[in-house]
Amino acid sequence: MQDLDKIVAEATAAFDAVADPAELEQVKARYLGRQGALTERLKTLGKLAPEERRELGARINAAKDRIEAALAARRQALAGAKLEARLAEEALDVTLPGRGLARGGLHPASRTLERIERLFRSAGFDVADGPEIETDFHNFTALNTPEDHPARSMHDTFYVAGAKPGQVLLRTHTSPIQIRYMQAHVARHRHLPTMPEIRIIAPGRVYRVDSDATHSPMFHQVEGLWVGEDVSFADLKGVLTDFLRNFYEDDSVRTRFRPSFFPFTEPSAEVDMTCVFCHGTGCRVCGQTGWLEVAGSGEVHPNVLRHCGIDPERYIGFAFGMGPDRMTMLRYGIDDLRLFYEGDLRFLQQFV
Ligand code: DAH
Repeated sequence: MQDLDKIVAEATAAFDAVADPAELEQVKARYLGRQGALTERLKTLGKLAPEERRELGARINAAKDRIEAALAARRQALAGAKLEARLAEEALDVTLPGRGLARGGLHPASRTLERIERLFRSAGFDVADGPEIETDFHNFTALNTPEDHPARSMHDTFYVAGAKPGQVLLRTHTSPIQIRYMQAHVARHRHLPTMPEIRIIAPGRVYRVDSDATHSPMFHQVEGLWVGEDVSFADLKGVLTDFLRNFYEDDSVRTRFRPSFFPFTEPSAEVDMTCVFCHGTGCRVCGQTGWLEVAGSGEVHPNVLRHCGIDPERYIGFAFGMGPDRMTMLRYGIDDLRLFYEGDLRFLQQFV
């Protein structure tokens, strides 16, 4: 029967014309479905004589096999094409150069703190820490700072809930770490006849109501404390002079002590060092004086020792407080403190 070949050819052509797998299944129904061309043909077999029926039935089945083979081939071709398309679309160009790893680095303020810690550790100091949210007792009272001291005013201090005794505040200096450390040290060594020496520095963030090119409401300080039975002002001068020479890598640095006042030290002194730019002859950075102010210091006030349970008749010591941010500015030649806190990568990347 001629038209069976025609149906096979037609079906094959129809399958090939389809590009979409779902559409292909619909086209399939036209030829192999219940009302498809071949099924219709099979239905007529009943009317034929047995001989003819067998022969025609076999030919119809053969045609059906060929159509199914054509369908399967097309299905496979379409699936293959779909995969190809997806592969092409999601292609990865493995020959592109990588983006590389952006190199991070420490903030200059952190670099300075790490450097300070390293130098003091090598001089036998431990590094201590304390909370940034402090009690008014640790920040002021225990440091011999009277109730009416101007540092306690609302204009200078960030109080968490009102400026009343017993309130908490953002610490205005790292000095309260002295108190916390001494109290813990005394408690730890209560059973010993002689208290082991205290020799610490305490770097950290501090807060004051202050903001301009050289003041930021948050800045850093490094506290120092050395308490023992036989610690003198000469030790203080030696420790600080040595430290400053190492920090600025300049052995010609000299220091001087000017009498000053702090509630928690007696006597107190302001520490100056020869200017790192002009070496003492006078320049713009040091205001033509040849000196730069680097720290407050003094012998720990007996009242402070008493607040911590240390006998001031037996133990003596010195303390100091430095501003590492200014040291960073001097070391790297930075002229505006606000650059530290703006997070501008053009600034920060210079220190990587
Ligand atoms: N705490 C003082 C301040 O913030 C700095 C200071 C001065 C600390 C003298 C000390 C010291 O330990 O002995 O201005």
